[in-house]
Amino acid sequence: MTESVGSPAPSMTPKRKLYVKSYGCQMNVYDAHRMADTLAPAGYVETATPDGADLIILNTCHIREKAADKVYSELGRMRVLKQNAAEAGRQVTIAVAGCVAQAEGQEIVRRAPAVDLVVGPQSYHRLPEMLEQVSHGKVIDTEFPVEDKFDHLAAPSRAVTRRRGVSAFITVQEGCDKFCTFCVVPYTRGAEVSRPVEKIIAEAERLAEAGVREITLIGQNVNAYHGADAAGRSATLGRLLHRLAEVPAIARLRYTTSHPLDMDDGLIAAHRDLPPLMPQLHLPVQSGSDRVLDAMNRRHTRADYLRVIERLRAARADLAFSSDFIVGFPGETDADFADTLRLVAEVGYASAFSFKYSPRPGTPAAEMAQLSEAVKDERLQRLQHEIDRHQAAFIARCDGVTFDVLFEKPGKKPGQIVGRSPYLQPVQVIAPSNLIGEIAPVTVTEVGSNSLFGALAEASPAPGHRPVEAVGA
Ligand code: 5AD
Ligand code: SF4
Repeated sequence: MTESVGSPAPSMTPKRKLYVKSYGCQMNVYDAHRMADTLAPAGYVETATPDGADLIILNTCHIREKAADKVYSELGRMRVLKQNAAEAGRQVTIAVAGCVAQAEGQEIVRRAPAVDLVVGPQSYHRLPEMLEQVSHGKVIDTEFPVEDKFDHLAAPSRAVTRRRGVSAFITVQEGCDKFCTFCVVPYTRGAEVSRPVEKIIAEAERLAEAGVREITLIGQNVNAYHGADAAGRSATLGRLLHRLAEVPAIARLRYTTSHPLDMDDGLIAAHRDLPPLMPQLHLPVQSGSDRVLDAMNRRHTRADYLRVIERLRAARADLAFSSDFIVGFPGETDADFADTLRLVAEVGYASAFSFKYSPRPGTPAAEMAQLSEAVKDERLQRLQHEIDRHQAAFIARCDGVTFDVLFEKPGKKPGQIVGRSPYLQPVQVIAPSNLIGEIAPVTVTEVGSNSLFGALAEASPAPGHRPVEAVGA
C-alpha cells in the first residue's frame, strides 16, 4: 500500500481545525504533537492560527508566575474569539492543558468561564472522550491515572513526522523526585516515571524511517532515567544512548534537562564513546553559593558541580555547557550572588538562562522571607551581562571553524538554507535545498549575536573527527 503524502486521508470523519499553543519547556512541544496525533483520527487537522479553529488548546507552563499570567491574558483573547464565532453560528471549544491545568484545575474554569475543558499532562490520551463530554458541561481531568498514557497516545503518520522536520524530541522520562524548594515540577508532573527502552527504540526507528536525523531525549530529570530493558532490568541513560546510537540514520543525539547529581560514570563515558552524542550539555546549577544550593535542596555543592564539569571535559574536550540560574532566591546575600557570578566565569558557559526567583504556591521557598523586586532586578541584570560576555566569547571562537551542520529548512534569504551546528547555533549557508535533511561540513565565515554564517567546506571530516577542540569553553 502506498501512502498518500500531502493529500487528505480517505475518511468519513468531517475535518475540524485544531490550534495548539504551547508555552514553556520542550516537553510541552512534544506533548502538543502527541495531542494532535491522538486527535487526528477524530478528524482534527492542525492549523497555525486560532482564527477559524474549532478546538483551541493552550498547553501551559507553571514554572514561573509570568508564564502562568500569560495564559490568563491569552484566555481573555480566546473568549472574544469564541464569542465572535458563536455569533457567526460556529462553535469553538477551548481547552487548557499542561502544568497550569494540573496545578489550578477547577480554578481555571472559575476565572475563565469560556474554558470548556481542563486536562492535566497525565491524561492527554483521554482527550477524545473528554471532548465528547464537553457538550454536557465543563470537563476537568487532573488525575494521575494508573495506565501509561504513552501506551494510548497515537503515533504521527510518516507525512506528519516529515513535516515536523529532521530534528525530533522523544520523552523518555517524566516527573521529578528531587523537590528543589523553588520548583513546582514534582507537583505538576508528578513522581519520576521512565519509559521502557524498547518502546523508545521503536519510536526512534519510526522517526528515523520518516527522515529524522537528530533526536533529543527529554525529561524533567532526564539523566535520572531508569527505564526497563527487554530483560526487565533497569537501564541508565548512558545505556539507552548506546542503544540509540545504533539506530540507522540517527546521526545526532542530545538529552535535556539533567541534574548534576545524576551524571553517573556511564553517562560521562558516553560523551567520550558515542560520536553521535553532540558536544553540548545543558546542566542547570541554579546558584554558585553553597548556602543557597542548600536552601534550594539541590543536594550538591558548588565543588561537586565543578567536579562533574571537569570530568565531562576530560571525557570530551570540545563539550560546551549551558545552564539555568535563579537570582534573588530567599536569603541570597550579596556574597552569595557574587559566588554565582564567579561560577559563570569559572565554567565559561556557551549560553545560559537566568530567572528572577518567583514564589510558586505550595512550594517550601514560597513560605520563606522574600527579597525585594529591586534587588532581584539588579542582580538579574548583572548576571545576564556576565552570561552575555561569555556567550559572545564562545560564539567569537566559532569564527573560522569547520563543523558539521544538520540542515533543517530554507533560510532567510533566497538560495540560503539553515541548519544547526553541533552547539545548536543556527547556521545560514548558501547551498542547494536538497541538502535539507543532510549533514555537511561548513566553515564559519561570520558570526552574529546568536547565529553563524558559513560556506560549505570541501570535504567531509573523518568520522569521529572533532574539529572544534578550541571551541568548547
Ligand atoms: N522561580 C524562578 N525560576 C524558576 N525555575 C524553576 N522554578 C523557578 C521559580 N520558582 C527555573 C530553574 C529551572 C528552569 C526550568 O526554570 O532555573 O531550571
Ligand atoms: Fe524542579 Fe529540576 Fe529541581 Fe526537579 S530537579 S525539582 S524539575 S528544578
